[in-house]
Amino acid sequence: MTSRLDGPLKVTGQAKYGADNNFPGMAYGYVLVSTIAHGEIQGIDVTAVRSAPGVIDVYSPFDPPVLRTPNTQFGETWVPLQDKEITYYGQPIGLVVAETYEQARDAAMTVEVTYHERPALTSLEDGLATAEDAPPGFDGSPQTFDILAPGVSSIEEALRASPVMVEATYSTATQNHAAMEPHSAVAVWDSGGLTVYSGNQGAHLQAAELAQALDTDPSSVRSVNPFVGGAFGGKARTSAAAFLAAAAARTLDRPVKVVLSREQVFTATAGRAATVQKVALGAAADGSLVAIRHDAWSSTPMDRSFVEPAAHSTREYYATQNLAISQKMVPLHLPPVTFMRAPGEATGSFALESAMDELAVALNMDPIELRMKNDSTAPVGKDLSWSGKHLDECFRIGAERFGWADRTPHGRADGDWLVGLGTASAMFPALRFPASVRITLRDDDTAEVATSGADPGTGLLTVLSLVGAESLDIPQDRITPRLGDSALPPGGMSGGSTGTASAGSAIMLAASQVIDDLVALASSPGAPFEGRDVAYADGRVQADGQTMTFGELLRAVNRPSVDAIGSSAPGEEMTKHSFSSFGAQFCEVRVHRLTREARVSRMLSVFDAGRIINAKTARSQIIGGMIWGVSAALHEGLEVEENGRFANADLAGYLLPVNADISDVDVHFVEHPDTLHNSVGARGVGEIGMVGMAAAVANAIYNATGTRVRHIPIMIEDLL
Ligand code: MOS
Repeated sequence: MTSRLDGPLKVTGQAKYGADNNFPGMAYGYVLVSTIAHGEIQGIDVTAVRSAPGVIDVYSPFDPPVLRTPNTQFGETWVPLQDKEITYYGQPIGLVVAETYEQARDAAMTVEVTYHERPALTSLEDGLATAEDAPPGFDGSPQTFDILAPGVSSIEEALRASPVMVEATYSTATQNHAAMEPHSAVAVWDSGGLTVYSGNQGAHLQAAELAQALDTDPSSVRSVNPFVGGAFGGKARTSAAAFLAAAAARTLDRPVKVVLSREQVFTATAGRAATVQKVALGAAADGSLVAIRHDAWSSTPMDRSFVEPAAHSTREYYATQNLAISQKMVPLHLPPVTFMRAPGEATGSFALESAMDELAVALNMDPIELRMKNDSTAPVGKDLSWSGKHLDECFRIGAERFGWADRTPHGRADGDWLVGLGTASAMFPALRFPASVRITLRDDDTAEVATSGADPGTGLLTVLSLVGAESLDIPQDRITPRLGDSALPPGGMSGGSTGTASAGSAIMLAASQVIDDLVALASSPGAPFEGRDVAYADGRVQADGQTMTFGELLRAVNRPSVDAIGSSAPGEEMTKHSFSSFGAQFCEVRVHRLTREARVSRMLSVFDAGRIINAKTARSQIIGGMIWGVSAALHEGLEVEENGRFANADLAGYLLPVNADISDVDVHFVEHPDTLHNSVGARGVGEIGMVGMAAAVANAIYNATGTRVRHIPIMIEDLL
């Protein structure tokens, strides 16, 4: 149980986020956004702006900064102001740069934009008719496929032949990450090149994107992000703010700071797609699944840059011989969508795990028993079994801790409150990205563990020190962890719940290398252990009963430090097993008999996520995910006006749970280290915390009230 090392800095305001950096002569940019959803900009009148107090320059598609579209390992990233086409309301269309932030903002208000407006398609329902097939996922896997038992000609045939069948349509709302730290950047050019201070999920990735966009030598671009105020997929790509700050700073030859307003964060970045999902489950009378069909439609921006793979993970939950999955995308004139915490898994699970609850009702079977009846040993249609799957243990422990045995099929009453219990399975793939970590042993007996990767609140900085201490066999307080700087060895991306597995594996390799180097140094000619057989333990080199700390040795040979870089990447293990984390999630919901307000009064998650490196930060990650799941179930959703404007794009209208909405949260891990996946044995936590929660809430509401709500967020009016 180690508290996060950066915690005190964050809660005392000493942590310096990107926009907290200030430089002499710095100018401020204010982003202009479109006020139509579809059309073309005819003109932007900047006459008044140019003569406004303090204004230095104005950029627009008529006078654009030169930016090229970067294309890195995660595909293309959109750069602003390169054409006059408008495809969503709130699209960046200009940048006003002034001596102060207020001057830039005030001047921006005087800009006159004229448009040639065209009809906009902004409703997912309206777009369903023109849906398009989704391209393969990022890993190249198809998003639409059928797996059928021998002799079965179609999924429909398998469903029809099932003694019990449920079929329903579910939908989920458009959301935004709404990270506390708005997307922002401070860009500084000097003789050495460009330095950008901007919250991101991987400093070296941001540096690579900026170098491409600005057509400059990658070695002359440095990205710095030691602190990131929330990311969740929304800062995986470089933001418009960072591209514009960097381009303006180059043109003006002075530092430029650009910070999106809270409202702009909802449109000038990217959020989560809305989905419509049809699920059909066919079962035998004993509950065994005969067939699963999951068809998903998700919104995508007009450039079709991201598909929320809502149906994709359904093959990873339950055993069945017949599975059909389809994924369509519906291009809309709405702001872009992207990865957002458990992208696909969270939305898909709401549909699948609600449907499983409906099937349990149809079978008159306990929902946990139904899930255990269909537990799988491998993804449907794949012959690679899981490296480890302990979902049954999660449900067993969870049911016990949560008091599931007291549940009745129709809830119970407590005064004016109708009380229900709900559950859902959760699944999240275990992934890793290539990562390099440098370990430096110093002559004062301390060590540095450094990588460019980011800690967007996940606890990765603390993990670097914990795994570093373990690998070097020294106390944690002698480790200085460093991250968030592209000048450090390229770390993985803090996305996909991969940080610990990616960086941890590299730390172990770096430690083993640096220890080898140290031992070689100890026995080298002229060194204290010359020619002897040296071993390393407890931070000391030793031979024949003589020992020295590594610091003493370094001082003896006059070396300030010795360092080594460890690099790791997914490899052969991927051909031997399937890797996912699993969990059982529970919640108790109370619905008021008269007002119909729904309140989550208790929740519990039990997860099988491999080894847990730091129980405290892992628990915090899971709690955050669970709260997000409740938020998705009962609060969050962007309301789209007919003109494509989000009606509630601020933190007053975009509902998020507050303390009063969340009471008792419990987290438990069943720890089975997964060294088949990586040498650290951790599969990663974070996203999985939210995966099953929305369905668990909806299922608890059904248990309490008998009302099945098939969309989220669930509102009071759904329960009248
Ligand atoms: Mo992940 S979608 O980067 O939280």
